[in-house]
Amino acid sequence: MGSPALKKAREKMVDAGVDPVAIDTFAHYFRLLEHGETGLVPESAIDPVDVPSLAGAEVDDEVAAEAIRHTVVIKLNGGLGTSMGMSRAKSLLCVRKGLSFLDIIARQVLHLREQHDATLPLIFMNSFRTSADTMAALGRYDGLAIDGLPLEFLQNKVPKLLAKDLKPVSWPADPDLEWCPPGHGDLYTAMRGTGLIDLLLERGFRHVFVSNSDNLGAVPDPRVAGWFASSGAPFAIEAVRRTASDRKGGHFARRRSDGRLVLRESAQVPPADQGALADLERHRYMSTNNLWFDLAAMKSALDQRQGILGLPLIRNVKTVDPADSSSPEVIQVETAMGAAIEVFDGSVLIEVGRDRFVPVKTTNDLLVLRSDVYDIGTDFVLDQVSAELPFIDLDGEHYKLVGDFDRHFPEGAPSLAKATSLRIEGDVTFGKGVQVIGDVELDVRGADRIAAGTVLQSDE
Ligand code: UTP
Repeated sequence: MGSPALKKAREKMVDAGVDPVAIDTFAHYFRLLEHGETGLVPESAIDPVDVPSLAGAEVDDEVAAEAIRHTVVIKLNGGLGTSMGMSRAKSLLCVRKGLSFLDIIARQVLHLREQHDATLPLIFMNSFRTSADTMAALGRYDGLAIDGLPLEFLQNKVPKLLAKDLKPVSWPADPDLEWCPPGHGDLYTAMRGTGLIDLLLERGFRHVFVSNSDNLGAVPDPRVAGWFASSGAPFAIEAVRRTASDRKGGHFARRRSDGRLVLRESAQVPPADQGALADLERHRYMSTNNLWFDLAAMKSALDQRQGILGLPLIRNVKTVDPADSSSPEVIQVETAMGAAIEVFDGSVLIEVGRDRFVPVKTTNDLLVLRSDVYDIGTDFVLDQVSAELPFIDLDGEHYKLVGDFDRHFPEGAPSLAKATSLRIEGDVTFGKGVQVIGDVELDVRGADRIAAGTVLQSDE
Protein backbone atom coordinates (compact mmCIF):
# COMPACT_ATOMS: atom_id res chain seq x y z
CA MET A 1 0.00 0.00 0.00
CA GLY A 2 1.08 3.59 -0.53
CA SER A 3 2.56 5.66 -3.30
CA PRO A 4 4.87 4.20 -5.98
CA ALA A 5 7.82 5.97 -4.35
CA LEU A 6 7.08 4.32 -0.98
CA LYS A 7 6.65 0.97 -2.71
CA LYS A 8 10.08 1.31 -4.29
CA ALA A 9 11.66 2.32 -1.00
CA ARG A 10 10.05 -0.64 0.79
CA GLU A 11 11.29 -3.07 -1.89
CA LYS A 12 14.78 -1.68 -1.61
CA MET A 13 14.72 -2.18 2.17
CA VAL A 14 13.34 -5.72 1.91
CA ASP A 15 16.06 -6.61 -0.63
CA ALA A 16 18.70 -5.25 1.73
CA GLY A 17 17.33 -7.39 4.58
CA VAL A 18 16.19 -4.49 6.81
CA ASP A 19 14.15 -5.51 9.88
CA PRO A 20 10.38 -5.51 9.00
CA VAL A 21 9.50 -3.25 11.98
CA ALA A 22 12.13 -0.76 10.83
CA ILE A 23 10.53 -0.84 7.37
CA ASP A 24 7.08 -0.14 8.88
CA THR A 25 8.59 2.65 10.96
CA PHE A 26 10.14 4.16 7.85
CA ALA A 27 6.80 3.85 6.00
CA HIS A 28 5.10 5.73 8.87
CA TYR A 29 7.52 8.64 8.50
CA PHE A 30 7.40 8.49 4.72
CA ARG A 31 3.64 9.09 4.82
CA LEU A 32 4.12 12.07 7.14
CA LEU A 33 6.68 13.42 4.70
CA GLU A 34 4.36 12.90 1.73
CA HIS A 35 1.58 14.76 3.52
CA GLY A 36 3.88 17.71 4.06
CA GLU A 37 4.00 17.17 7.83
CA THR A 38 5.95 20.04 9.35
CA GLY A 39 5.87 18.97 13.00
CA LEU A 40 5.60 22.65 14.02
CA VAL A 41 4.93 23.29 17.71
CA PRO A 42 3.57 26.84 18.21
CA GLU A 43 4.26 28.77 21.39
CA SER A 44 0.54 28.76 22.19
CA ALA A 45 0.62 24.95 22.52
CA ILE A 46 3.28 24.84 25.25
CA ASP A 47 4.28 26.22 28.64
CA PRO A 48 7.83 26.75 29.91
CA VAL A 49 9.21 24.23 32.42
CA ASP A 50 11.05 24.42 35.73
CA VAL A 51 13.64 21.74 36.33
CA PRO A 52 14.97 20.50 39.72
CA SER A 53 18.72 20.18 40.00
CA LEU A 54 20.82 17.10 40.65
CA ALA A 55 23.01 19.16 42.98
CA GLY A 56 20.03 19.61 45.30
CA ALA A 57 18.85 15.99 45.14
CA GLU A 58 19.37 13.62 48.09
CA VAL A 59 20.80 10.36 46.79
CA ASP A 60 21.56 7.62 49.27
CA ASP A 61 24.93 5.87 48.66
CA GLU A 62 23.35 2.42 48.97
CA VAL A 63 20.66 3.32 46.46
CA ALA A 64 23.31 4.66 44.07
CA ALA A 65 25.41 1.48 44.37
CA GLU A 66 22.36 -0.73 43.81
CA ALA A 67 21.23 1.38 40.82
CA ILE A 68 24.59 1.27 39.03
CA ARG A 69 24.65 -2.54 39.36
CA HIS A 70 21.43 -2.66 37.35
CA THR A 71 22.46 -0.11 34.75
CA VAL A 72 23.52 -0.65 31.15
CA VAL A 73 25.49 2.04 29.30
CA ILE A 74 24.75 2.66 25.64
CA LYS A 75 26.77 5.04 23.50
CA LEU A 76 25.30 6.47 20.32
CA ASN A 77 27.99 5.99 17.75
CA GLY A 78 26.17 5.66 14.44
CA GLY A 79 26.62 9.23 13.15
CA LEU A 80 29.25 10.19 10.64
CA GLY A 81 30.51 13.55 11.86
CA THR A 82 29.63 15.12 8.51
CA SER A 83 29.60 18.65 9.97
CA MET A 84 33.33 18.21 10.59
CA GLY A 85 33.91 16.69 7.15
CA MET A 86 34.14 13.12 8.46
CA SER A 87 32.64 9.99 6.99
CA ARG A 88 33.49 7.85 9.99
CA ALA A 89 32.52 7.92 13.65
CA LYS A 90 33.70 11.06 15.43
CA SER A 91 34.66 8.92 18.42
CA LEU A 92 37.69 7.56 16.52
CA LEU A 93 39.33 10.98 16.71
CA CYS A 94 42.21 11.41 19.07
CA VAL A 95 41.53 13.53 22.14
CA ARG A 96 45.00 13.48 23.67
CA LYS A 97 48.04 11.33 24.48
CA GLY A 98 47.02 8.85 21.80
CA LEU A 99 43.63 8.30 23.45
CA SER A 100 40.52 8.56 21.31
CA PHE A 101 36.96 9.26 22.50
CA LEU A 102 36.44 5.49 22.40
CA ASP A 103 39.48 4.83 24.61
CA ILE A 104 38.32 7.35 27.17
CA ILE A 105 34.75 5.98 27.20
CA ALA A 106 36.03 2.41 27.62
CA ARG A 107 38.40 3.41 30.44
CA GLN A 108 35.74 5.46 32.26
CA VAL A 109 33.52 2.37 32.32
CA LEU A 110 36.29 -0.08 33.27
CA HIS A 111 37.21 2.20 36.16
CA LEU A 112 33.62 2.48 37.42
CA ARG A 113 33.14 -1.31 37.22
CA GLU A 114 36.09 -1.83 39.48
CA GLN A 115 35.21 0.93 41.87
CA HIS A 116 31.59 -0.11 42.36
CA ASP A 117 31.79 -3.83 41.76
CA ALA A 118 29.22 -3.41 39.00
CA THR A 119 28.81 -5.34 35.74
CA LEU A 120 28.01 -2.08 33.95
CA PRO A 121 27.83 -3.39 30.37
CA LEU A 122 28.98 -0.90 27.72
CA ILE A 123 27.24 -1.29 24.38
CA PHE A 124 27.69 0.83 21.28
CA MET A 125 24.91 1.60 18.83
CA ASN A 126 26.79 1.62 15.54
CA SER A 127 25.53 2.13 12.02
CA PHE A 128 26.61 0.22 8.92
CA ARG A 129 29.19 2.99 8.41
CA THR A 130 30.75 3.02 11.89
CA SER A 131 30.73 -0.61 13.04
CA ALA A 132 33.94 -2.05 11.54
CA ASP A 133 36.24 0.83 12.57
CA THR A 134 34.75 1.07 16.03
CA MET A 135 34.98 -2.64 16.78
CA ALA A 136 38.56 -2.73 15.52
CA ALA A 137 39.49 0.18 17.80
CA LEU A 138 37.84 -1.48 20.82
CA GLY A 139 39.65 -4.75 20.11
CA ARG A 140 42.43 -3.74 22.50
CA TYR A 141 40.09 -3.94 25.55
CA ASP A 142 39.88 -7.61 26.41
CA GLY A 143 37.56 -7.36 29.38
CA LEU A 144 35.21 -4.77 27.94
CA ALA A 145 32.52 -7.09 26.56
CA ILE A 146 30.39 -8.81 29.20
CA ASP A 147 29.81 -12.55 28.73
CA GLY A 148 26.64 -13.23 26.80
CA LEU A 149 26.09 -9.58 25.86
CA PRO A 150 27.14 -7.86 22.63
CA LEU A 151 29.55 -4.94 22.60
CA GLU A 152 27.56 -3.36 19.80
CA PHE A 153 24.27 -3.50 18.01
CA LEU A 154 23.57 -2.07 14.60
CA GLN A 155 21.01 0.58 13.94
CA ASN A 156 18.81 0.31 10.90
CA LYS A 157 19.44 1.93 7.58
CA VAL A 158 16.94 3.75 5.40
CA PRO A 159 17.09 4.89 1.78
CA LYS A 160 17.87 8.52 1.03
CA LEU A 161 14.96 9.96 -0.97
CA LEU A 162 15.28 12.25 -3.96
CA ALA A 163 13.96 15.65 -2.90
CA LYS A 164 12.13 16.14 -6.20
CA ASP A 165 9.90 13.03 -6.11
CA LEU A 166 10.72 11.11 -2.89
CA LYS A 167 11.95 8.08 -4.86
CA PRO A 168 14.89 6.23 -3.31
CA VAL A 169 18.02 7.68 -4.86
CA SER A 170 20.25 5.52 -7.02
CA TRP A 171 23.99 6.29 -6.86
CA PRO A 172 25.97 3.59 -8.66
CA ALA A 173 29.28 5.43 -8.13
CA ASP A 174 29.02 4.52 -4.41
CA PRO A 175 25.88 2.54 -3.55
CA ASP A 176 26.61 2.90 0.21
CA LEU A 177 25.71 6.56 -0.20
CA GLU A 178 22.16 5.56 -1.17
CA TRP A 179 21.53 4.78 2.51
CA CYS A 180 21.68 6.68 5.77
CA PRO A 181 21.18 5.90 9.46
CA PRO A 182 17.73 7.26 10.44
CA GLY A 183 18.92 9.45 13.33
CA HIS A 184 19.41 8.38 16.95
CA GLY A 185 15.63 8.04 17.49
CA ASP A 186 16.20 4.68 15.82
CA LEU A 187 17.72 3.50 19.12
CA TYR A 188 14.43 2.07 20.39
CA THR A 189 13.52 0.32 17.12
CA ALA A 190 17.02 -1.13 16.84
CA MET A 191 17.16 -2.29 20.48
CA ARG A 192 13.84 -4.07 20.07
CA GLY A 193 14.57 -5.45 16.60
CA THR A 194 17.92 -6.91 17.61
CA GLY A 195 16.38 -8.52 20.72
CA LEU A 196 18.60 -6.43 23.01
CA ILE A 197 15.77 -5.16 25.22
CA ASP A 198 14.63 -8.70 26.02
CA LEU A 199 18.16 -9.93 26.54
CA LEU A 200 18.99 -7.15 29.02
CA LEU A 201 15.75 -7.71 30.93
CA GLU A 202 16.44 -11.45 31.13
CA ARG A 203 19.86 -10.67 32.55
CA GLY A 204 18.26 -8.62 35.33
CA PHE A 205 19.16 -5.10 34.19
CA ARG A 206 16.65 -2.34 34.89
CA HIS A 207 18.02 1.01 33.75
CA VAL A 208 19.67 2.18 30.56
CA PHE A 209 21.87 5.27 30.37
CA VAL A 210 22.31 6.49 26.79
CA SER A 211 24.50 9.34 25.59
CA ASN A 212 26.42 10.59 22.57
CA SER A 213 29.88 9.12 22.10
CA ASP A 214 31.08 12.65 21.33
CA ASN A 215 30.19 13.82 24.86
CA LEU A 216 32.95 12.70 27.23
CA GLY A 217 31.15 14.43 30.11
CA ALA A 218 28.42 11.78 29.96
CA VAL A 219 29.87 9.51 32.63
CA PRO A 220 27.57 6.76 33.99
CA ASP A 221 27.80 8.27 37.45
CA PRO A 222 26.25 6.14 40.26
CA ARG A 223 24.77 9.27 41.85
CA VAL A 224 22.75 10.02 38.70
CA ALA A 225 21.80 6.33 38.40
CA GLY A 226 20.66 6.45 42.03
CA TRP A 227 18.63 9.58 41.43
CA PHE A 228 16.94 7.97 38.41
CA ALA A 229 16.19 4.72 40.25
CA SER A 230 14.64 6.56 43.19
CA SER A 231 12.58 8.82 40.92
CA GLY A 232 10.60 5.77 39.77
CA ALA A 233 10.22 7.55 36.41
CA PRO A 234 10.10 5.51 33.19
CA PHE A 235 12.18 8.06 31.28
CA ALA A 236 14.43 11.00 32.13
CA ILE A 237 16.71 13.45 30.36
CA GLU A 238 19.57 15.43 31.86
CA ALA A 239 19.03 19.12 31.08
CA VAL A 240 21.32 22.14 31.23
CA ARG A 241 20.57 25.87 31.31
CA ARG A 242 20.57 27.48 27.88
CA THR A 243 23.13 30.22 27.32
CA ALA A 244 23.41 32.99 24.73
CA SER A 245 25.18 30.66 22.31
CA ASP A 246 22.31 28.12 22.60
CA ARG A 247 19.68 30.75 21.74
CA LYS A 248 18.79 29.10 18.45
CA GLY A 249 18.80 25.50 19.69
CA GLY A 250 15.90 23.40 20.96
CA HIS A 251 14.45 23.41 24.48
CA PHE A 252 12.13 21.53 26.81
CA ALA A 253 8.52 22.59 27.37
CA ARG A 254 5.25 21.19 28.67
CA ARG A 255 2.48 20.52 26.13
CA ARG A 256 -0.77 22.17 27.17
CA SER A 257 -3.05 19.56 25.61
CA ASP A 258 -1.88 16.65 27.75
CA GLY A 259 0.62 18.09 30.22
CA ARG A 260 3.49 16.01 28.87
CA LEU A 261 7.09 17.13 28.62
CA VAL A 262 8.24 17.70 25.05
CA LEU A 263 11.51 18.55 23.39
CA ARG A 264 10.93 21.33 20.87
CA GLU A 265 13.70 21.45 18.28
CA SER A 266 14.42 24.77 16.58
CA ALA A 267 13.15 23.39 13.27
CA GLN A 268 9.75 22.89 14.94
CA VAL A 269 9.34 26.55 15.92
CA PRO A 270 7.06 28.56 13.59
CA PRO A 271 8.59 31.80 12.23
CA ALA A 272 6.23 33.93 14.32
CA ASP A 273 7.52 32.33 17.55
CA GLN A 274 11.24 32.84 16.94
CA GLY A 275 11.28 35.56 19.62
CA ALA A 276 10.00 33.13 22.26
CA LEU A 277 12.57 30.55 21.16
CA ALA A 278 15.37 33.06 21.72
CA ASP A 279 14.01 34.10 25.14
CA LEU A 280 16.46 32.45 27.56
CA GLU A 281 14.42 33.53 30.59
CA ARG A 282 11.29 31.88 29.25
CA HIS A 283 12.68 28.61 27.88
CA ARG A 284 15.59 27.98 30.19
CA TYR A 285 16.49 24.35 29.66
CA MET A 286 17.91 22.34 26.81
CA SER A 287 18.87 18.73 26.34
CA THR A 288 22.29 17.17 26.89
CA ASN A 289 21.07 14.04 25.07
CA ASN A 290 22.07 12.13 28.24
CA LEU A 291 19.04 10.01 28.82
CA TRP A 292 17.84 7.35 31.26
CA PHE A 293 15.07 4.86 30.75
CA ASP A 294 13.49 1.96 32.52
CA LEU A 295 13.87 -1.16 30.36
CA ALA A 296 10.53 -2.72 31.29
CA ALA A 297 8.64 0.54 30.69
CA MET A 298 10.31 0.96 27.31
CA LYS A 299 9.53 -2.60 26.31
CA SER A 300 5.87 -2.19 27.11
CA ALA A 301 5.63 1.21 25.36
CA LEU A 302 7.13 -0.33 22.22
CA ASP A 303 5.03 -3.47 22.38
CA GLN A 304 1.82 -1.45 22.79
CA ARG A 305 2.68 0.42 19.59
CA GLN A 306 3.90 -2.53 17.50
CA GLY A 307 7.42 -1.18 17.78
CA ILE A 308 6.66 2.29 16.38
CA LEU A 309 6.97 5.03 19.00
CA GLY A 310 5.82 7.69 16.52
CA LEU A 311 8.45 10.30 17.33
CA PRO A 312 8.32 13.65 15.54
CA LEU A 313 9.75 13.50 12.03
CA ILE A 314 12.98 15.32 11.21
CA ARG A 315 13.29 16.09 7.52
CA ASN A 316 17.00 16.46 6.87
CA VAL A 317 17.92 17.85 3.44
CA LYS A 318 21.42 17.01 2.17
CA THR A 319 23.12 16.02 -1.08
CA VAL A 320 23.45 12.31 -1.85
CA ASP A 321 27.23 12.64 -1.71
CA PRO A 322 27.85 14.97 1.24
CA ALA A 323 31.28 15.79 -0.19
CA ASP A 324 29.81 16.89 -3.55
CA SER A 325 27.40 19.78 -3.25
CA SER A 326 26.41 19.42 -6.93
CA SER A 327 25.13 15.85 -6.43
CA PRO A 328 21.33 15.44 -6.29
CA GLU A 329 19.44 16.82 -3.31
CA VAL A 330 18.02 14.14 -1.02
CA ILE A 331 15.81 13.98 2.03
CA GLN A 332 16.95 11.89 4.97
CA VAL A 333 14.11 10.74 7.20
CA GLU A 334 15.30 10.94 10.79
CA THR A 335 14.07 11.03 14.38
CA ALA A 336 15.78 12.13 17.61
CA MET A 337 16.12 9.92 20.67
CA GLY A 338 15.18 12.63 23.20
CA ALA A 339 11.81 13.19 21.52
CA ALA A 340 10.66 9.97 23.22
CA ILE A 341 10.20 12.05 26.38
CA GLU A 342 6.65 12.74 25.18
CA VAL A 343 5.79 9.05 24.93
CA PHE A 344 5.63 8.61 28.72
CA ASP A 345 3.25 10.28 31.13
CA GLY A 346 5.75 10.15 33.96
CA SER A 347 8.87 11.47 32.15
CA VAL A 348 11.06 13.77 34.23
CA LEU A 349 13.95 16.20 33.77
CA ILE A 350 16.94 16.85 36.00
CA GLU A 351 19.32 19.79 35.73
CA VAL A 352 22.98 18.72 35.69
CA GLY A 353 26.20 20.74 35.60
CA ARG A 354 27.91 21.62 32.34
CA ASP A 355 30.57 19.06 33.25
CA ARG A 356 28.12 16.40 32.04
CA PHE A 357 27.74 18.14 28.70
CA VAL A 358 30.95 18.48 26.67
CA PRO A 359 29.71 17.94 23.12
CA VAL A 360 32.10 18.07 20.19
CA LYS A 361 30.10 19.35 17.24
CA THR A 362 32.73 21.51 15.60
CA THR A 363 36.51 21.78 15.44
CA ASN A 364 36.17 24.77 17.83
CA ASP A 365 34.93 22.29 20.46
CA LEU A 366 37.68 19.83 19.53
CA LEU A 367 40.41 22.45 20.06
CA VAL A 368 39.19 23.12 23.61
CA LEU A 369 38.94 19.41 24.40
CA ARG A 370 42.47 18.79 23.13
CA SER A 371 43.88 21.70 25.14
CA ASP A 372 44.90 22.05 28.79
CA VAL A 373 41.46 23.45 29.68
CA TYR A 374 40.72 19.88 30.73
CA ASP A 375 42.73 17.47 32.76
CA ILE A 376 41.99 13.76 32.56
CA GLY A 377 42.42 11.96 35.87
CA THR A 378 42.96 8.29 36.73
CA ASP A 379 39.18 7.78 36.52
CA PHE A 380 39.34 9.13 32.94
CA VAL A 381 36.76 11.78 33.82
CA LEU A 382 37.33 15.22 32.31
CA ASP A 383 38.25 17.80 34.89
CA GLN A 384 37.84 21.41 33.77
CA VAL A 385 40.83 23.27 35.20
CA SER A 386 40.03 26.81 34.06
CA ALA A 387 37.09 28.66 35.60
CA GLU A 388 35.49 29.57 32.28
CA LEU A 389 35.56 27.78 28.95
CA PRO A 390 37.27 29.93 26.31
CA PHE A 391 35.20 31.01 23.33
CA ILE A 392 36.78 29.70 20.12
CA ASP A 393 35.93 30.86 16.61
CA LEU A 394 38.11 29.37 13.85
CA ASP A 395 37.24 30.43 10.34
CA GLY A 396 35.18 28.07 8.22
CA GLU A 397 37.62 28.02 5.34
CA HIS A 398 40.79 26.69 6.99
CA TYR A 399 39.62 24.82 10.07
CA LYS A 400 36.09 23.46 9.61
CA LEU A 401 37.07 20.05 8.26
CA VAL A 402 38.99 17.92 10.69
CA GLY A 403 41.78 17.14 8.19
CA ASP A 404 42.44 20.86 7.56
CA PHE A 405 42.15 21.61 11.27
CA ASP A 406 44.80 18.98 12.14
CA ARG A 407 47.21 20.47 9.60
CA HIS A 408 47.03 23.83 11.38
CA PHE A 409 47.73 22.33 14.81
CA PRO A 410 50.34 19.66 13.95
CA GLU A 411 51.83 19.73 17.48
CA GLY A 412 48.49 19.61 19.27
CA ALA A 413 46.36 22.41 20.70
CA PRO A 414 47.89 25.56 22.17
CA SER A 415 47.51 26.20 25.89
CA LEU A 416 44.05 27.70 26.41
CA ALA A 417 43.82 27.45 30.20
CA LYS A 418 44.27 31.23 30.53
CA ALA A 419 42.42 32.16 27.33
CA THR A 420 39.07 33.95 27.30
CA SER A 421 38.63 33.82 23.56
CA LEU A 422 40.53 32.93 20.42
CA ARG A 423 39.34 34.07 17.03
CA ILE A 424 41.27 33.20 13.88
CA GLU A 425 40.67 34.43 10.33
CA GLY A 426 43.18 33.08 7.83
CA ASP A 427 45.72 30.34 7.34
CA VAL A 428 47.66 30.12 10.63
CA THR A 429 49.77 27.12 11.66
CA PHE A 430 50.68 26.70 15.33
CA GLY A 431 54.10 25.52 16.55
CA LYS A 432 54.59 23.51 19.72
CA GLY A 433 53.72 24.95 23.14
CA VAL A 434 51.99 28.17 22.04
CA GLN A 435 50.08 29.83 24.89
CA VAL A 436 46.96 31.96 24.49
CA ILE A 437 46.12 34.45 27.26
CA GLY A 438 42.98 36.61 27.49
CA ASP A 439 41.22 37.61 24.27
CA VAL A 440 43.26 36.92 21.15
CA GLU A 441 42.23 37.69 17.59
CA LEU A 442 44.38 36.73 14.59
CA ASP A 443 43.49 38.03 11.18
CA VAL A 444 46.07 37.21 8.52
CA ARG A 445 46.34 37.41 4.75
CA GLY A 446 48.40 34.63 3.17
CA ALA A 447 49.88 31.95 5.39
CA ASP A 448 51.35 32.56 8.83
CA ARG A 449 53.13 30.41 11.37
CA ILE A 450 53.18 30.97 15.13
CA ALA A 451 56.63 29.93 16.37
CA ALA A 452 56.96 27.31 19.08
CA GLY A 453 56.63 28.71 22.59
CA THR A 454 55.03 32.02 21.56
CA VAL A 455 52.75 33.67 24.10
CA LEU A 456 49.76 35.31 22.42
CA GLN A 457 48.09 37.89 24.66
CA SER A 458 45.29 40.39 24.35
CA ASP A 459 46.75 43.79 23.55
CA GLU A 460 45.17 46.25 25.92
P1 UTP B 1 25.01 14.35 15.95
O1 UTP B 1 23.67 14.89 15.85
O2 UTP B 1 26.05 15.23 16.50
O3 UTP B 1 25.46 13.81 14.55
O4 UTP B 1 24.91 13.00 16.75
P2 UTP B 1 26.75 13.17 13.95
O5 UTP B 1 26.18 12.23 12.99
O6 UTP B 1 27.75 12.63 14.89
O7 UTP B 1 27.43 14.39 13.26
P3 UTP B 1 26.96 15.20 11.96
O8 UTP B 1 25.63 15.78 12.23
O9 UTP B 1 26.98 14.21 10.84
O10 UTP B 1 28.05 16.20 11.86
C1 UTP B 1 24.85 12.89 18.13
C2 UTP B 1 25.23 11.48 18.50
O11 UTP B 1 24.30 10.57 17.93
C3 UTP B 1 24.95 9.59 17.16
C4 UTP B 1 26.28 10.21 16.77
O12 UTP B 1 27.23 9.19 16.54
C5 UTP B 1 26.62 11.07 17.98
O13 UTP B 1 27.24 10.31 19.01
N1 UTP B 1 24.05 9.22 16.03
C6 UTP B 1 23.58 10.15 15.18
C7 UTP B 1 23.71 7.90 15.88
O14 UTP B 1 24.13 7.02 16.67
N2 UTP B 1 22.91 7.55 14.84
C8 UTP B 1 22.42 8.46 13.97
O15 UTP B 1 21.68 8.07 13.05
C9 UTP B 1 22.77 9.78 14.15
